[in-house]
Amino acid sequence: MLVRDELELKKFFVPEFIFGRGALELAGRYARNVGLRKVLLVTDAGVTKAGWADCVCSSLDEAGIPYEVFDCVSPNPRVGEVMTGAEVYRAAECQGIVAVGGGSPIDCAKGIGIVNSNRRHILTFEGVDQVQLPGPPLICIPTTAGSSADVSQFAIITDEEGRRKIAIISKTLVPDISLLDPLPLTTMDTTLTVDTGMDALAHAIEAYVSNASSSVTDLHAMQAIRLQVSALPNAFSAPEDLQTRYRTMLGSLYAGLAFSNASLGAAHAMSHSLGGLLDLPHGRCNAILLEHVVGYNYAAVPDRFDEIARTMGLQPDRLPGTERQKALTRAIGDFRRSLGIDATLSDLGVRPGDLPDLAKRALIDPCMATNPRRLELKEIEEIYASAL
Ligand SMILES: [Fe+2]
Repeated sequence: MLVRDELELKKFFVPEFIFGRGALELAGRYARNVGLRKVLLVTDAGVTKAGWADCVCSSLDEAGIPYEVFDCVSPNPRVGEVMTGAEVYRAAECQGIVAVGGGSPIDCAKGIGIVNSNRRHILTFEGVDQVQLPGPPLICIPTTAGSSADVSQFAIITDEEGRRKIAIISKTLVPDISLLDPLPLTTMDTTLTVDTGMDALAHAIEAYVSNASSSVTDLHAMQAIRLQVSALPNAFSAPEDLQTRYRTMLGSLYAGLAFSNASLGAAHAMSHSLGGLLDLPHGRCNAILLEHVVGYNYAAVPDRFDEIARTMGLQPDRLPGTERQKALTRAIGDFRRSLGIDATLSDLGVRPGDLPDLAKRALIDPCMATNPRRLELKEIEEIYASAL
């Protein structure tokens, strides 16, 4: 069983963030505050269509800051997109980046920044602490409540040739400023709302049971679980309610502060593997895998999982030890199904023949290092099989 030393040295990285209604309109002012004379605006087609990229452009116009728009970012941002964005940045002689969107444009923007400052290919940064020079100033405006890329030290980029996702983890990837406004969340469709919300719940749960968790990350992780469990169903049923969207954004922020500093676990390692090999949506993969991974991990840190159960409204103390794990995994499964996520991995197109390859890739993902239980290849395959 995992035993934590509370006195062990820990470090924490958090960006400056401004949170509340109207934050979106501050992009120009903050770009000017950090001395930018020209910026690359990184976004994607969906965010542009919803009108949020235009809002940020207006803010930059008002502040008198010229910009170049780069919106060729796909869900699961790719190596080629990062390298092209870096060329656009250089050709337009930008001095900083404003990223507007979900995790994909923000991760792509992080990649563009470090490629430019280090003059290296994006694939060379894979792993932990492989970035020497920080990128140029980065201002993030998230339009989803899930990835927390706007506060995290993580960037996940898809290597199309290798059909895998690489994780880049470095303090240099923490954005300079995050402008968190709940308004853009009101245009997320149901699928995006629940997928990103379940991603945030997975961040919080994995951070809370991570080998690298600490008192500071515990505080954020627990509050994130509480908020996601109470607010996400409301966001699902009343998508335009700004107060509810605010609470999911706060939950996602707390989850981001927790996992950025405690890292993640097997659900994310396995989800990255699925995203890389089969180009599947990150949040949906986590939503499907989470209860199965929790079931496997429970015995490593039962007290921690019982605390999660209490936060989700269960009463594990009234159950015999053998029933507690089942009650928690059932509650997580029921929660996702209540949000309309009743798919299996098979429904997403995963075949039994894919599992050995998926497991091999998940085993070497950096997120696996902080999973509370050491998993062997065979066990990872078993978890995938249970979610098929
Ligand atoms: Fe995630």
